[in-house]
Amino acid sequence: MDKNKIRIENLTVKADNTEILKNISLSIRQNEILSAIGPAGSGKTTFLRCLNRLIDTEEELSVQGSIKMDDKDIFSPQTDLSFIRRKISMVFAVPTPLPMSIRDNLRLGLRFQKRLSGININERIEKSLRAAFLWDEVKNRLHESAMKLSGGQQQRLCLARSLMVKPEVLLLDEPCSGLDPISTAEIEEALKNLKKEMTIILVTNNVKQASRTSDRTVFFLMGDLIEMGETGRIFTTPKDKRTSDYVSGRFG
Ligand SMILES: Nc1ncnc2c1ncn2[C@@H]1O[C@H](COP(=O)(O)OP(=O)(O)OP(=O)(O)O)[C@@H](O)[C@H]1O
Ligand SMILES: [Mg+2]
Repeated sequence: MDKNKIRIENLTVKADNTEILKNISLSIRQNEILSAIGPAGSGKTTFLRCLNRLIDTEEELSVQGSIKMDDKDIFSPQTDLSFIRRKISMVFAVPTPLPMSIRDNLRLGLRFQKRLSGININERIEKSLRAAFLWDEVKNRLHESAMKLSGGQQQRLCLARSLMVKPEVLLLDEPCSGLDPISTAEIEEALKNLKKEMTIILVTNNVKQASRTSDRTVFFLMGDLIEMGETGRIFTTPKDKRTSDYVSGRFG
């Protein structure tokens, strides 16, 4: 249970002379849900983008330090991007279905899979939709456009799409930000089940969501890692006054 899945050492991200992440070191355990919390601009999204190397697309940023998943060096030029995309899947804040059928959206989740032979796609679709608590709502309309789904359904579809590759690590960037409480609860329930099969990093600016769903929580502020620990402790007896101000809503 306490095996580390990801090890981050001295991660610094800079834009010109501004440090967006400042010498961050932490480990993420296999099969845990780690929440990353912190105010706007604290570096949470940048942190996620480092983990799956989406950060590569931003040439103006310089990245130092190391991230290892198992023993694989994520930043090494030898590490194939499609390998990373297969192992580390991401769900974004705004649902991003494409204007095509529900089924085709899900198939798209397999685009980084090297070989499709041997994969039973219908089975994979059903399993992913069930895991995202969407199966019953869409099982009879898989050929309809994904754009007809509600926002909450679209976000669960995006979750299902990111599960199609059976990732080992799932990154979520404020996945419930625009959602109603019922869709939010469904996603949280889905994550609690999914952690049996993968490691989950949940960026959320809803501290209650972090306290409800995660095993451990890390608090970022202006690019610094202020405190990290078991979620219960972070919310009841934080060591740093800034953490306690933030989790109790007294911030700023
Ligand atoms: N490509 C970039 N170039 C310059 N600055 C950037 C770039 N990307 C991010 N930043 C800056 O880095 C800081 C952290 O941004 P980031 O998006 O990681 O914050 P966040 O914690 O996710 O915030 P939010 O809660 O608003 O999503 C911000 O000040 C942002 O303006
Ligand atoms: Mg963000």
